Amino acid sequence: MKTASCPCYLVAFFKYCIHLRLDPSGLGKCDLGNRKSFKSTKYGHENLERRKACERTSFIFLRKELPVRLANIMKEIQLLPENLLRMPSVSLVQSWYEKSFEEILVYETVDTSDPKILESFCERLLKIHNRHNDVVPTMAQGVIELKQMCQLDQQTEHSIQYFLDRFYMSRISIRMLINQHTSLFGSNLNGHPRHIGCIDPNCSVTAVLKDAYENARFLCDQYYMASPGLEITEHNGCDSGTNISVVYVPSHLYHMLFELFKNAMRAVVEHYGSDADSFPPLQVIVALGREDLTIKMSDRGGGIPRSLIDTLFQYMYSTAPTPSPSTESTPLAGYGYGLPLSRLYARYFQGDLIITSAEGYGTDAIIYLKVYIFEDMIYTYIINIL
Ligand SMILES: Nc1ncnc2c1ncn2[C@@H]1O[C@H](COP(=O)(O)OP(=O)(O)OP(=O)(O)O)[C@@H](O)[C@H]1O
Ligand SMILES: [Mg+2]
Repeated sequence: MKTASCPCYLVAFFKYCIHLRLDPSGLGKCDLGNRKSFKSTKYGHENLERRKACERTSFIFLRKELPVRLANIMKEIQLLPENLLRMPSVSLVQSWYEKSFEEILVYETVDTSDPKILESFCERLLKIHNRHNDVVPTMAQGVIELKQMCQLDQQTEHSIQYFLDRFYMSRISIRMLINQHTSLFGSNLNGHPRHIGCIDPNCSVTAVLKDAYENARFLCDQYYMASPGLEITEHNGCDSGTNISVVYVPSHLYHMLFELFKNAMRAVVEHYGSDADSFPPLQVIVALGREDLTIKMSDRGGGIPRSLIDTLFQYMYSTAPTPSPSTESTPLAGYGYGLPLSRLYARYFQGDLIITSAEGYGTDAIIYLKVYIFEDMIYTYIINIL
């Protein structure tokens, strides 16, 4: 893997990790020549002084990096089509970014040795994180407002799609950095002792799969009073007989799988009818190779015409009724954000998400993840940059 081919947000993220990991006072030095040792490296909680030094390193990195990223995305918002910029929801999103930018800039020149400053920075990051919780639906609302006002030509649709991909990817990367800092150094430790911030060095794919399935099934049962079962098969091509685990961010994996399960369940129940006696189960194959972890989810929900496959990844393309804003419960479908956002999560760490379908039969949704992305990036970063 060449650093040059990596998007700069990812290089910056690993730069951040490396600052923490290589710092002898940080998360514990790992032998970068040995991939297995990366997995078994423990986060040293023991020494408070070491922890503080590490927190300071992270703080110094983020107080520079975050304003740059916020400024970049604010600049891109300003380049949006004039009529979209005037929509109230877009202005609201813009104001959140401006406020967060100003709040981080305050830390530009402060004394980094003051523990109170470090504490207040962490609290500030949490506030910023929460302020931006609703960015996705609010930005989506802005586009809906525009569409209700006027007919969009193909060129404008295309630019909005391009912008939203970059905008949401930037959001994922900013939240990743904030989460990493707050979960490592905040007062609310996340209760997963083996996690390194939000990264799980031994993320069990099947455990995340089952969790995502159960939660999607709950929604499906609520909506249709029926749901298909699940069959999981694991193929560990690297270490046969051993359960598959990878170094990954479980919340990202969960997000993708939850969205795919909702889609597959909806397709199957709609295809067979919610009063059918039984449904063919969803079949998931998890395969681990030397380069890729592949998760293939197959349903027998009637499939999708080939001509529609690209359209599925357009924001707001949905064949489900638009959920009413007054509904309290989480809808099973209808926003048209599930697939495009999940693909961004997969691509964030250089993976991908594709859909292939046999119309009249069923659909395969495939997630590809780079198995050694964390080790490789850190390794490449050291060789090429440090
Ligand atoms: N497994 C599948 N089988 C058949 N159609 C599918 C499948 N997965 C997705 N689709 C189609 O793709 C559309 C877009 O999916 P996407 O997940 O992006 O949005 P959604 O499910 O409609 O809404 P939400 O944002 O709430 O997920 C769906 O409305 C559906 O028509
Ligand atoms: Mg969906």
